[in-house]
Parts: sequence; C-alpha cells; structure tokens
Amino acid sequence: MLRISFESTKIFPLSLVLTTASTALCQVLRPDTIFQTNHSPNDEISYPNFLHLLRELINIFLTNPQNENTQRKMSDHWSLKGKKALVTGASKGIGKAAAGELESLGAEVFRVSRDFRGTGGMKCDVTVEKDRKKLFERISNDWGKLDILVNNAGTNNRKHILDSSPQDYSELVDLNMTSVFEFCRMFHPLLKKCGHGSIINVTSVAAQTSVGTGAAYAMTKSAIDQLTRYLSVEWAKDNIRVNAVAPWYIRTPLTSKYVTNDEFLQRICSRTPMGRIGEPDEVASAIAFLALPASSYITGEVLAVDGGFLKYGF
Ligand SMILES: NC(=O)c1ccc[n+]([C@@H]2O[C@H](COP(=O)([O-])OP(=O)(O)OC[C@H]3O[C@@H](n4cnc5c(N)ncnc54)[C@H](OP(=O)(O)O)[C@@H]3O)[C@@H](O)[C@H]2O)c1
Repeated sequence: MLRISFESTKIFPLSLVLTTASTALCQVLRPDTIFQTNHSPNDEISYPNFLHLLRELINIFLTNPQNENTQRKMSDHWSLKGKKALVTGASKGIGKAAAGELESLGAEVFRVSRDFRGTGGMKCDVTVEKDRKKLFERISNDWGKLDILVNNAGTNNRKHILDSSPQDYSELVDLNMTSVFEFCRMFHPLLKKCGHGSIINVTSVAAQTSVGTGAAYAMTKSAIDQLTRYLSVEWAKDNIRVNAVAPWYIRTPLTSKYVTNDEFLQRICSRTPMGRIGEPDEVASAIAFLALPASSYITGEVLAVDGGFLKYGF
C-alpha cells in the first residue's frame, strides 16, 4: 500500500482541482494507493507542496504495473512492426511519402510503379492484368499475407468533357478506377489471411465537389469513395477495414505545373481556409493513421486532407 500525504500550508489556489484530480488518478492508476491530504479542497497550498505532490503522482504513474501495460498497449497501437504493406505508385509524390511513413512506423513496404528500379518492389503497370497477376504471385510467394494495401497510383486529365476523347476517358477509368477495384478484389484473400487487413484508397476532394479538374477524373474518384464504403461493409466480417483519404492540392510532380504558377497558386490558397497547399507527408501521415491499429474502429471513412477546403462555404 502506498500512502501519500502532504502538509497543507498556504498560497496556491489550485487545491480543489489538485485534490480531486490526484484522488482520481490514484484510484485509476493504483487502487491500493491512499491519497491523504490534511487540507480541505478549499484550502490553499504552498507552491513547494504543490510541486512535491506532482512529483509523487508522476512517480506513481511511472512505477505502476497497470500503466506499463497501458504504455505497451499504446505503443502497439502506434506501431506497424511486423506488418506487410503494398503501396502502388510509390516512386514519387504521395505514394513515395506514404511508403516512407509506413516504413518509419515499422512496416515492411513493397513499392510498385511503372518505372520501379532497385529492391523492395517491382515494376508493375496497375492497369495491365498480366502485371497485376505477376505482382499478386510475388506477394503471395514472398509474404503469403498482406496487412496493408495502399491504392495510390493515379493520374489526372483536366480536359473538359466536350474536349475529351474516348481514350482520355478510358485511360482515367482504367488507372484511377478499374485498377483499384481489381487490386482490392485480388488481394482480398491475403488481407483476410492476416486477420486485420487495412485498405487505404487515395481519392480526391474532386469526388465531392466541383474543383475544375475534369468530370471524368471526378467520376473515377467518386466511384472509389463509394467502393470504399461498400467494401467496408462487405468485408468487415473478414476483419478488413477499408478507408480512403481525399487530398486537395498537394505539392507533387502531378501538380507541379499548377502550383508553380503563382496566379493559380494564389487562387487555390484563397479557397483554402489554411491558406496553403499540402505536402505529400501530410497525406502520408493520414494514410499511416488509417493503417495503424490506432484506427482499428474506423472503416468506410473518406478522410479529407485539404486544409479545410471542403468545409469552406463562403
Ligand atoms: N497531388 C495532388 O494534389 C492530388 C490531389 C488529390 C488526389 N491525388 C491523388 O493522389 C494519388 C497520387 O498522386 P500524386 O500527386 O502523388 O501523383 P504523381 O506525383 O504523378 O505520382 C503518381 C505515382 O503513380 C505511379 N503511376 C502512375 N500510373 C501508374 C500505372 N499505370 N501503374 C503503376 N503506377 C503508376 C507513378 O509512377 P510511374 O509513373 O513510374 O508509374 C507515381 O509513382 C493519385 O491517385 C491522385 O489522383 C493527388
């Protein structure tokens, strides 16, 4: 049994809060602790006594076995140690940042893009069925399971609908939509096998409101928002969570032409409550959060990473 007490003297007007908080803290952290104070909640206590009490409470917190468990549990919540992650479009921009972020949290990451070079990934055009099958075989053979799938590979074509060719349309649909649908379907058995799979689709604020990016692009991203919601319901029984992130303008090779144009950049920023565009790392951390056990009760969500853009009415 641990007994804490201190002498009440004078002058510090925090005693009511302190006494109540300390008693509660002792009970939660260490039920065999008796918190004793010989002053009433309305007394004033001296500053040295206040510091002394604070030190005692911190000591209890640090030495409490229950707290060690809590700390262990917390660090598991915020770690991807032992997890296997596949990131498409990981050679630049948002995908590259996401792969790095997942790795920094302990995951082993497999990177995919059309011009992939080196180890820890492979060349794969996600729109080509033969490439998708090869990738699936590789992941099945190397890992036999998959914990995290980030469907990020995508592109844009800002042509207005009347200027678009059937080829413009099908290129966007094949890459932004069909490939994501097929990746989800193909990797379902491996995600199910790991026991707690997480899919994160990279969509766009263009799925939810008109941002001048071209209707076909917006359609493909809306479709993936809806795929996200549907699969979250269908696959919850398989312990697979399905979420999406929806960025507004992010500084990547895809947008460099626009965000390096001062006049255009100013227009974007004037429509963004936070007054700036985003960085790839800021999307990467949202993706990582949705991959972490810390978000274990979140599924079917489309998380805007947009500096408040979608909330800006006037
Ligand atoms: N940047 C933004 O402001 C923004 C805003 C909203 C949504 N998004 C979405 O975020 C995602 C990433 O955008 P980003 O800005 O990072 O684009 P990015 O800089 O152009 O990077 C795209 C990545 O996808 C890969 N890729 C493209 N086509 C591919 C294919 N057919 N097969 C495999 N990989 C392919 C590219 O590598 P290779 O060229 O080597 O294949 C690259 O690694 C996209 O889905 C995009 O729609 C971006």
